[in-house]
Order: sequence, then structure tokens, then C-alpha cells
Amino acid sequence: MKLIELAKEARERAYAPYSGFSVGAALLAGSGKVYTGCNIENASFSPTLCAERAAFAKAISEGETSFLSIAVVGGKRGEKADRPCPPCGVCRQFMREFCKDDFTVLFSEGESVRTLTLRELLPYAFGEQMK
Ligand code: THU
Repeated sequence: MKLIELAKEARERAYAPYSGFSVGAALLAGSGKVYTGCNIENASFSPTLCAERAAFAKAISEGETSFLSIAVVGGKRGEKADRPCPPCGVCRQFMREFCKDDFTVLFSEGESVRTLTLRELLPYAFGEQMK
């Protein structure tokens, strides 16, 4: 199944009672395995976990060390997720820790899919090489 379709499936499992905005992600690792994630909110708001980081946490904790691509879909609960849902700044920085500049992020845009690289989404990023 396509990465975008897997992200849509994962979105159905979002726990988002506070924002009503459900997000799904599907992350393709170098091993060929796909790890999905959904957003998981909290009554105390700040512990809320984005779908992208939920997918990465699953993959990294299973031993994955290289990543090729992630699909992200989001929208109001119960509505179609056909407008782009770009990763938040925290997720971009999180990805930067584990992914190369040519890692790709896929978004739904109507019936088509837009692809951007992490370099495009997070230019001039802070990283380990600066320390
Ligand atoms: N959200 C994500 O899951 N990923 C993002 O990159 C942006 C925001 C979630 C967090 C929160 O549960 C809801 O969307 C509204 O901000």
C-alpha cells in the first residue's frame, strides 16, 4: 500500500479530543519496513505527541537507524485530509537528528501528492556537526 494511504489509515487512530485535528504519518525506514504514527494529545496539552514523532519513536525503538521518507496527512476529525499538513518545527528538528538532507516528506494535496526534502523544510538547521 502507498505511504500516503498508510498515513490515512493511521490517522483514524489519532487521539485528539482537545484540538479535534487528527494527523497520521507513515515512515519508510531503510530496512524497507513502514512504521505508522498518529497524534496523541493530553489534557495537560504540552505532553501532546505529534504523529511524525510517534512513528519515529516506534521505528527507532525497534532498532531502525536509516530513514527514506515520511507521509503526513492531517485535517479536522471526520473530514478528508486532502490539504497539506506540513510537519511542525519540533518534528522537523526531530527528523534532522535521524535523517539526511535528502529525506523526503510527502503531503496530500487534493488528489495529488507533494514531495519536499528535509533540506527544503528545514534550511540552515542546527545539528550535531556544529558542536
Ligand atoms: N500535529 C501533528 O501530529 N503533527 C504536526 O506536525 C503538526 C501538529 C498535531 C498536534 C496536535 O495534536 C494537533 O495536530 C493540533 O495541533
